[in-house]
This record gives sequence, C-alpha cells and structure tokens, in this order.
Amino acid sequence: MGKLGKVGTVPIPIFPIFPNYPNMNVSMDTLVTLCKTRGFVFPSSEIYGGFAAVYDYGQLGVELANNIKRAWWKAMVQERDDVVGLDSAIFMHPKIWEASGHVGGFSDPLTECKSCHTRSRVDHLLEDIGVVADEKMSEEEINDLFTANIKKITCPKCGKTDFTPVKKFNLLVQSNLGNFSGDLTKDPVYLRGETCQGIYVNFENVLVSSRKRVPFGIAQIGKAFRNEITARQFIFRTREFEQMEMQYFTHPDQEMVEYEKLRQLRWQYYLDLGIKEENLQWHKHENLVFYAKEAYDIEYRFPFGFKELEGVHARGNYDLTQHSKFSGHDLDYKDPITGEKYIPHIIESSVGVGRTMLAVLTDAYHEEEVEGETRLVMKFPKHLAPFKVAVLPLSKKDELSVPARELAQKLRKTWMTDYDETQSIGKRYRRQDEIGTPFCVTVDFETLTDNAVTVRERDSMKQERVPIAELEAYLRKNLE
Ligand code: GAP
Repeated sequence: MGKLGKVGTVPIPIFPIFPNYPNMNVSMDTLVTLCKTRGFVFPSSEIYGGFAAVYDYGQLGVELANNIKRAWWKAMVQERDDVVGLDSAIFMHPKIWEASGHVGGFSDPLTECKSCHTRSRVDHLLEDIGVVADEKMSEEEINDLFTANIKKITCPKCGKTDFTPVKKFNLLVQSNLGNFSGDLTKDPVYLRGETCQGIYVNFENVLVSSRKRVPFGIAQIGKAFRNEITARQFIFRTREFEQMEMQYFTHPDQEMVEYEKLRQLRWQYYLDLGIKEENLQWHKHENLVFYAKEAYDIEYRFPFGFKELEGVHARGNYDLTQHSKFSGHDLDYKDPITGEKYIPHIIESSVGVGRTMLAVLTDAYHEEEVEGETRLVMKFPKHLAPFKVAVLPLSKKDELSVPARELAQKLRKTWMTDYDETQSIGKRYRRQDEIGTPFCVTVDFETLTDNAVTVRERDSMKQERVPIAELEAYLRKNLE
C-alpha cells in the first residue's frame, strides 16, 4: 500500500499504490484494433502507407474527443467565475519560443540503432531497465549514463545493442510561413510546441478586456506540434496533438495555496469524468526545472502501465518575466486596490485530448460472459459516449422503418442518435454495446398499436417499455 497524502480535505495517493503494472482490462493491440474497426482512430494517410505518430479521429473518435473537450471546458471555464477562455493562433512571433526556452532547451536525447536505424529516446531506453535520466542532464552526461548501461539495453525493434552516440534533438517543428526566400534556416517560424505560450502573451489583453483581477485563469484548447522521436505509442504520444491547458495567475504569496486547490480540483475532475480512481495516481517530480516550485503529474494506468496523463505545475514568475524581458513590454501587474506591483506567479494544468481519450477508452473496455458468449461493451460514462441513443426497428419493412426513422430524426434534435435496421436485433444490440451507446430504442409491431417502444440500457441490459410521448423525458433523466 502506498502513502496517502492530503490535498485540501481529500486524501489522495501520492506515491504509487500499485506497482507499475499494466492495465489488465485490455491490451494495446485490442484497443488499436477496436479504434480502427469501429471508427474511433485511424492511422493518418493510411492509403499512402501511413505517416508516423499522426492519427485521424474517425466518426466516433471525433464525437468522443468533442465530448471530452466539452467536459473539460465546462469544468474549467463555464463553471468558474475566475477563468476565461482563449483561442490563440498556432503561429506566433518566433521570439516567443526563444523567451520560453524552447529554442534553446526543448529537446529529447536521441540515439539510432546502427543495425535497423530505429530512433529511440534514450531516457525511455534507460527507463525500461529501471534507470532514471534527469531531464536537466547535458548531452555529455546522458551519453555517459547511456554508455555505462549499454550492455543491458537492446533496440526495441531488432533487439541488437549497437547504438550511435546520444544527441539532443530539438522537438520544435519549423515552418516556412511568411518565408519566401526558399531558405528554411533563415528566420525560422515554429508551429507551437504547447498552447500555453499563447496564453502568457495574451495575459495583458485578457486582463484589461475582461476586467478580471489576480487571481484569475485563462484556459484554451488547441493543437500543438512536437517532433517526437518515438512513434510507437498510438495516440499516447503523437507529433500533432491537442492540449487543454489552464494557466492561473496568482499573487506570489498565494501560489502554493492556489496550487494545492488546483491539484484537488484536477483529481476530482477525473473522478467526475468517470475515470476509475484505482487507475489514477500522483507522481511527484523530483528533479524540478530551476524556476518551478513544485510539479506533480496525474498518471493513468494505461495498458502499458502508469504514465503521465496531466501535468499540474507551479511555475513561479518565470513565464511572464521571460516575456517581459524578450518583448520589452512590462508585464507587471498592479493591484487596483492595494497598488502593489508584482509579476504574477503561474500555476498550470495541462493535459492532452488524445491521452485523455486513450484513458477513457481503456477504462470503458469490458468483456463479460452473457449466455455463454463474450459480450464486448464500452462502458463510457454517458456524457462521453459518442452516440447517446440508437433506434432499431424490429423489421426493415416500411411499416416499422418509417416511424422508426421519424423517431430517430426527432431524437437527433437533442442527442447524437444512430439508426440501424440491418441484421438481427441481438447483433444490433451487440454493435451498439461495442461503441458504447447507453440506450437502444426498439420499435416493434406492438408500437403500432400501443405507441410505446422498448428501451434497453447498455450496462444492465435491462429492458423497459416506455410510451413514445414520454421517451424524451425518460432519456433526459437517464442521460444526466
Ligand atoms: N505547458 C506544459 C506542457 O506542455 P507537457 O508535460 O509537455 O507540459 C502536457 O505536456 C500534457 O500534454 C501531457 O501531460 C500530455 O497529456 C500532453 N502531451 C504532451 N506531449 C504529447 C504528445 N506528444 N502527444 C500527445 N499528448 C501529449
């Protein structure tokens, strides 16, 4: 049993209460296959042989991702008086990335297998054999650590032990936007490596136009791009991904108080999202970057073990200080009541949409025995399910399909509604179970006389007869 810590009034596990064993609920291979065959996630550019570490969300994936983003926005912006939203551009002045430290230091240690030319992250190869490489290590230091352990390390693809020396590889993705010289090395611009820089540089705009006072936060959801070295982790680590970030600006003396509050809120957020608590844990960063006060990750037990889902970090006044310095624009805050002037300190919550989606898919996956057969059911929390309801006429004949289609069309005004009339009703129930639809509504021959339908609930498989006139109220109540 791991230690229990306390954030506010809520006791939380600080150190792993489970060793880093994988989530036995489902294997990665099974999830990847399910995602492809049911339309959650497709490999990018597949008919051209694929494009490494980039994925497309299919017809169900886009619904799931939108529901995740809606839940995050609701918790982070809609339900809070002290946080406002933002949608800053992906491209920004290149100096921003110098100020943030990304141009100089946003890099991962890379090695290449001399035999099969697979590139790997050295810190990950070391982690696999139980050796922790400090993020702050220089190229030389990590090379020494790698060399000292080389006999125990094999290439994840071909199994050989013949690597190139370690090189630090910058993750920023460059573009030729606005560069008509044909020379990409000249005046590089970058696709943003994280969304929060757009928040920092709009701090003053939001402060003035929203008439907020410190403490307050700015939240945004948007794409970020990183030249990730490893391209083997499905949607856990991709080169193009979406982040949901909230940066909270505080008085220096209040930074750690607000930080503890944010940690508590973020833990509760995952429980409210429907994630099982036994699949979550806190991980404390031992080696902090020089400006950070404290940093914790919320880890989720993915099929490959506990790994970072979200970062909750206390960043001090580093970000606004750097942007003041590099832009020459004073970002001091003057308290309108006390007159005190200071650079606000920032606490952040940062999580990927894709990573949340992988956690939600892992948590939802269930196989159970029903009448001697295995039922695969995705037990998504109802608010996240891609379709909320499916309308299934018992027969394809016009007699039933016409009113069933009309009913589906009516329900679509309120909920994502599927319609399916092919194959047996049993097979159709199973298909909806596999994509996690909470309710199936069957229109049968009795419907023509009693004006009622059979509603089947996904998890319990219980069936209830509900008058059509009461169906919307029934669904509204049960989908809450
Ligand atoms: N602003 C802080 C920041 O960007 P980070 O730890 O690099 O910190 C925050 O990223 C979160 O963004 C991660 O916890 C993860 O959920 C998501 N994320 C980061 N890199 C990712 C990638 N390559 N693919 C998918 N999600 C990623």
